[in-house]
Amino acid sequence: MAAAGLGVTAAPFTKAAHVLGAVSAFLVLVWCIRFRGGLALENENKNLIFNLHPVITLIGFVVLGSEAIMIYKVFPSWDRYTVKMTHLILHGIATVLGAFGIYCAFKFHNEQGMSNFYSLHAWLGMATIVLYAIQWVYGFVTFFFPGASPGVRRAAMPWHVLLGIFVYVLALVTTELGFLEKLTFLEIFVGLDKFGMEAILVNITSIVVVLLGASVVVASVTPVHDKEIPQDYAPLPGEC
Ligand code: HEM
Ligand code: HEM
Repeated sequence: MAAAGLGVTAAPFTKAAHVLGAVSAFLVLVWCIRFRGGLALENENKNLIFNLHPVITLIGFVVLGSEAIMIYKVFPSWDRYTVKMTHLILHGIATVLGAFGIYCAFKFHNEQGMSNFYSLHAWLGMATIVLYAIQWVYGFVTFFFPGASPGVRRAAMPWHVLLGIFVYVLALVTTELGFLEKLTFLEIFVGLDKFGMEAILVNITSIVVVLLGASVVVASVTPVHDKEIPQDYAPLPGEC
């Protein structure tokens, strides 16, 4: 995307995002394994099936999706074909893992005899994965195979970037709602201490995810090199 005139390059934000992504992955694993009993696809204890949901949606969908978005800024010297392939493959893996993470939530609900789609989190989550998949197919067809004409690609690119950032932010919002919802359930139905270690851990994980998202969005609207930063100030027409 063109420089947004923020006066900074993407590098510090991509570095921060790598660290924040790794920290959020570590924290969600600590939460689900150390505090929530572990992870399993088949188990008598259905909570272990649920635990796969936050782990896979956060690490497989949000963190991997973040890396996919930043790839153009992290490896600017790679040839066009390789960087495009990496972008589309990482987004493809993120979409599949996101869908699998959602399947785990459905599996948990169904095996517990609970209803589906009762929360805003579930509605936004479903919208997110569907829009993400549409964005992927649209990107693939336009920019990769069969590939649109140069004029159409040029016109489509700002929309691709805008809608890509939009659906990514939607994934972040969904993640935040998911953490809030699960923590509230635990506090109300299991009597989890509102000021205990676990509640603090979940809130800190959510804050790390917000910071991750902010870093990725700034990285995607800032240029790679100093020389691409606009140096001059152009007044608006009629402005002194
Ligand atoms: C972008 C990431 C995420 C997406 C796309 C997503 C999507 C979904 C969907 C579609 C459901 C509905 C399943 C059903 O109706 O049976 C669901 C359930 C649930 N998710 Fe997530 N989720 C995400 C991340 C998280 C995270 C990080 C947590 C934190 C614990 C979480 C907590 C929950 C809970 C508690 C439920 C069961 C209650 C409900 O249906 O609202 N989710 N999620
Ligand atoms: C859900 C999947 C996708 C999302 C969320 C997404 C999102 C984005 C975002 C946010 C950018 C801007 C990055 C930046 O300028 O720093 C971008 C750029 C781009 N994407 Fe995607 N994308 C997706 C899938 C695809 C696919 C499948 C292709 C096919 C090759 C593709 C091709 C491109 C191209 C060519 C650019 C331009 C990079 C540049 O030169 O500035 N994207 N995408």
